[in-house]
Amino acid sequence: NSVDVVVETGSTNSDLADLATKGVPQGAVLIAEEQTHGKGRLDRTWSAPARSGIFVSALLRPSDAGVPRDNWSWIPLLVGVAASTALSRAAETPVRLKWPNDLLVTVGEEERKLGGILTELADNGRAVIAGVGVNVSLRENELPVPTAGSLALAGAPVTDREILLRELLRTLSELYEEWCADGGDPTATRLREAYLSQCATIGKHVRVLLPGDTQVVGEAVDVDDLGRLVLREPSGAEHAVSAGDVIHVR
Ligand code: BTN
Repeated sequence: NSVDVVVETGSTNSDLADLATKGVPQGAVLIAEEQTHGKGRLDRTWSAPARSGIFVSALLRPSDAGVPRDNWSWIPLLVGVAASTALSRAAETPVRLKWPNDLLVTVGEEERKLGGILTELADNGRAVIAGVGVNVSLRENELPVPTAGSLALAGAPVTDREILLRELLRTLSELYEEWCADGGDPTATRLREAYLSQCATIGKHVRVLLPGDTQVVGEAVDVDDLGRLVLREPSGAEHAVSAGDVIHVR
């Protein structure tokens, strides 16, 4: 595997997508100390002060690893499980997920966003770029938005970026290899159980803001084979959502 560290770049996801087009193999990893045009989900930006966090992207080629395209929809959730598992362990602080893959920590009494994951297709749909951003050392006045958190604000005893990053990459490659060995089968229970146990959304009453300004409310009861969040609406009807912003109501 090749691991490259750059001091400053626009976006590690965009850089790795360019490399993917040039045929760089699965397993390549790009780490930046600072991003000037970090990208988030749903066309948002991702900003954080230099050296305040983890900005990393990894290149996956699931077809080469024997996973048919129909099974790729669990990849964003897989990367989320890897990140929450690795950070909980290495930072010695509970990190959970908000569907699909926001990383959450508790700061005081509040559940705050610690980081997030952006997965994108590259190389004409042959590759997946898995980008992870984590707020590590940010103090309250450095947060991009007041609802954000950081490991330091959560009181984590370990905030060494290198230790966290090593554990993150190790856990991601372990989970990914296991998943590939199953052909990415969404009915295989290991990944699904790990996801459900890490996901704070399951069992909560949520409001989901869907792309295009509509919203649904209900109890989050499960995640389906496509990685969609299954909601039980007040009428009792079940409804699966594939993208959107979840707000935990209670
Ligand atoms: C989100 O929560 O919206 C996802 C944020 C993903 C940020 C990471 S930082 C490394 C990688 N490069 C990017 O441009 N974005 C991801």
